[in-house]
Amino acid sequence: MEFDSKDLIRNAPPAVAKGKAPDLEVPPEACLIEGQAEPCTVVIIGASGDLTQRKLVPALFNLYLNAGLPEPFFIVGCGRTELGDRGFRDKMKKGISGVSQHTDSKWKGFAECLFYRSIDYRDPSSFSDLAGYLKEMDKKHGTGGNRIFYLAVPPSLYEDVAQMIGRSGLAVENKGDNGWSRIVVEKPFGRDLETAGDLDRSLHDHFKEHQIFRIDHYLAKETVQNILMFRFANSIFEPLWNRRYIDHVVITTAETLGVEHRAGYYEEAGVLRDMFQNHMMQLLALTAMEPPSLFEANRVRDEKVKVYRSLRPFPVKDLEKYLTVGQYGPGTIDAEAVPGYRDEPGVDANSLTPTFAMMKIFLDNWRWQGVPFYLCSGKRLAQKLTEIAIQFKEVPHSMFRQVLGEYITANRLTIGIYPDEKITLTFQTKNPGARVCLRSVTMDFEYSQNYKGPILDSYEKALLDCMLGDQMLFWRQDGVELCWSFLTPILEQCETCRERQEMLFPYTAGSWGPRFPEDPGGLDSLIEPKTSQGTA
Ligand code: BG6
Repeated sequence: MEFDSKDLIRNAPPAVAKGKAPDLEVPPEACLIEGQAEPCTVVIIGASGDLTQRKLVPALFNLYLNAGLPEPFFIVGCGRTELGDRGFRDKMKKGISGVSQHTDSKWKGFAECLFYRSIDYRDPSSFSDLAGYLKEMDKKHGTGGNRIFYLAVPPSLYEDVAQMIGRSGLAVENKGDNGWSRIVVEKPFGRDLETAGDLDRSLHDHFKEHQIFRIDHYLAKETVQNILMFRFANSIFEPLWNRRYIDHVVITTAETLGVEHRAGYYEEAGVLRDMFQNHMMQLLALTAMEPPSLFEANRVRDEKVKVYRSLRPFPVKDLEKYLTVGQYGPGTIDAEAVPGYRDEPGVDANSLTPTFAMMKIFLDNWRWQGVPFYLCSGKRLAQKLTEIAIQFKEVPHSMFRQVLGEYITANRLTIGIYPDEKITLTFQTKNPGARVCLRSVTMDFEYSQNYKGPILDSYEKALLDCMLGDQMLFWRQDGVELCWSFLTPILEQCETCRERQEMLFPYTAGSWGPRFPEDPGGLDSLIEPKTSQGTA
């Protein structure tokens, strides 16, 4: 074959675009739905409660505004309170003030899809009435008997309600007038390994695994979904993503909010059940997992499960080396005085429930051997901040030591989830000027950069996926149980040991958590203040 030098030029890779990524001008609808969801009914059990008004109905309304709902579609709210369709619509209207594009006429159109039934959660006849009502409504609206049952009731009612739905024939799929049937459960999935198993068995009495959607709203956050894209759609980070180059990882979910009106639940849960057993474990898995062979629900969840299988159990007798727990006392948040946890309404005056925890976790596998993962979460901290920081190792040898000393700040990659939805890489450059000195600078990518389409909030995405039958962003039971297997002995030790009181360190509301005189570090030193400009 003759060599044609022009071929080389013709087939050469295109020149790399300079500067920022081009605006792809993605049409809004392109990012909203991948496959058209089938007509369906969303039945919210516990519809007179807070979650429905604050999250579920605003999410469905926003989907409606962005043409994200199937047609036909309707919502049936069920609750103990006597409300009626009108009362329900009025109550829900109060929750949608935050939905940006809403207008009265649009709300009116949406409100016509809202219906309400009073229900007794423990009365079988209430559910057979509901079954009859849904059948009638399906016929009238043409939704084909496809139904999502969203359990927005307290967790203590999950099993009873799931049983009632099942016994009234509503879990059966594709028989008689029924189309598909799905059930959505919010965490907590049990309060330990045993109760998680009980709940699962109860759900499985009537529902098959493909019908069960265990929701974790963190998984549906845009920036959390992006972790897998960032890791596995780029070839430059993956070779460094291991024990050779990474010194440690810090996963932080700090909140300024206190327990609010949820004392009844939180007193029983504490931060370990409320945040660690679910959101923190998902963030850990996404950061540490191996690449699945295909971006498909079960393959992704298989890889997460492998991370949970690698969790090194804590030596419970030596707990304090791996776990610090704390509880907030009175303090100041946003220049306002706030009460301590024990003074919050509904909280026991001698409560030993932790509102803060920092955990040092190791994964026993080839990739991560010896790399500590610090997981920190707490209420009433200095700032609402959710991020994953990958701290790289220091350079192996400082050739600048005569002029700069031994220490050079190591690289850090931060995946910001809240408030900054951005990825930041910190690295060293020469400070301009005659004197040789370094400065830390950052390369930032803002998630919303050059994107004008709609942004789905986490509940919108989760509801949409449930309508589409896609379980990728939902927990699978084996993952739930593996995380409980890891946490249950820790919880038992924390909750039963004699030193329980001494183990719980107080911290001032508005601070970064407990501080210890012998260890001035603490959470803020791990997070590293954003403003640091380490000049050597
Ligand atoms: C919930 C917890 O799952 O997540 C709450 O029950 C917590 O206690 C909340 O406040 C935090 O979610 P986000 O999305 O505000 O970080």
